[in-house]
Amino acid sequence: MQTLPSPGESITCSGPHYDRAKEAKEFDETKAGVKGLIDSGMAKVPRLFIHPPQNLRDVSSDTEGSATDLKVPIIDMMGCQDSRLRRDVVDDLRRASETWGFFQIINHGIPVDVMDSVLEAVKQFHEQPEGVKGEWYSRDDARKFRYYSNGDLFLSKVATWKDTLLFDFPFGEPDREAVPLLFRETVFEYEKHVEKLKGSLSELLSEALGLDSGYLGDIECMDSKRIVSHYYPTCPEPELTLGTINHSDATYLTLLLQNHNGGLQVRHQNQWVDVSPVPGAILVIIGDFMQLVSNDKFKSVEHRVLARRAGPRVSVLCFLFPGETRKSKPYGPIKELLDENNPPMYRETSFTEYFGYYLSSGNGLNGESVLPHFRVSEPK
Ligand code: OGA
Ligand code: NI
Repeated sequence: MQTLPSPGESITCSGPHYDRAKEAKEFDETKAGVKGLIDSGMAKVPRLFIHPPQNLRDVSSDTEGSATDLKVPIIDMMGCQDSRLRRDVVDDLRRASETWGFFQIINHGIPVDVMDSVLEAVKQFHEQPEGVKGEWYSRDDARKFRYYSNGDLFLSKVATWKDTLLFDFPFGEPDREAVPLLFRETVFEYEKHVEKLKGSLSELLSEALGLDSGYLGDIECMDSKRIVSHYYPTCPEPELTLGTINHSDATYLTLLLQNHNGGLQVRHQNQWVDVSPVPGAILVIIGDFMQLVSNDKFKSVEHRVLARRAGPRVSVLCFLFPGETRKSKPYGPIKELLDENNPPMYRETSFTEYFGYYLSSGNGLNGESVLPHFRVSEPK
């Protein structure tokens, strides 16, 4: 999860002729995002967006993707209400969560036309005149809807090639008036379906952990929803920058919808694997907190998005984490999963503490997992 509260101080950095803070401020003041750079005819990636070589590991010069044959698992959820078929679905989810921490699901119950209209509305938002969308540009975290480029623009060392929309559902109740007309039908319709899917996944993943189906629901770990949508414009020099830097999500679970323009990669067996778009599929990403409460049974894995000449890529993510009343309560490895052969791997922590560390350490922003900070036993 790379979507962050408003920054505090800006960083002035490096080089006698380069004032990063000034360039960041000027870019921010355009309120036109990366799409604005492209629209103005920019043929070179500005320095603000140029990543150091260590971030660009294995970004091939044509950035047409990875060379491996590995494929992210696709799980068919059809029939998961039928007791016999349900067992197969639970087994598939367990295997995928233990080995990949990242999988696509099909026949998940969200209608294709609902998914398509959300993706289309996001595209339309970014492709309207700058003056119109600029009205919504904001870094004020109190807003229920906002548009911005690089939530961490003034904190991270280098910017990424994308613009973002954020829809907050902190108390479950959507605030229709807070969002542009374009989204009033689509996003709330999508959110209703996501809520249902979250319920099914919560039960299935509880069972996959060997717990009662209501377990994850009862601990209220996924009651808050934040829908974040990224728009990745085409990039003239994709080998110099990234759409999203490698990171793992500081959530329990993330549900991701993507359009047909790829670019998303996941780290598996020490290689970057392309997550090829599958029509109608939703991606499920195990977050850091799920790894923590499952005591390392389920894996939260690194992923990233390449900048590409083809595009635009549009993604719509739903980040799931504890609700307002549970955010500051501690969560630790689930007791039922512990015994003398399975000691707790992590100390207890709250979402507020965890996310605070994610931001303040700078690690979350620069692609390093912050889970090790909470670890009390070495991984097996
Ligand atoms: C994220 C993320 C991937 C994408 O925002 O945490 O992983 O496809 N995004 O936008
Ligand atoms: Ni992510």
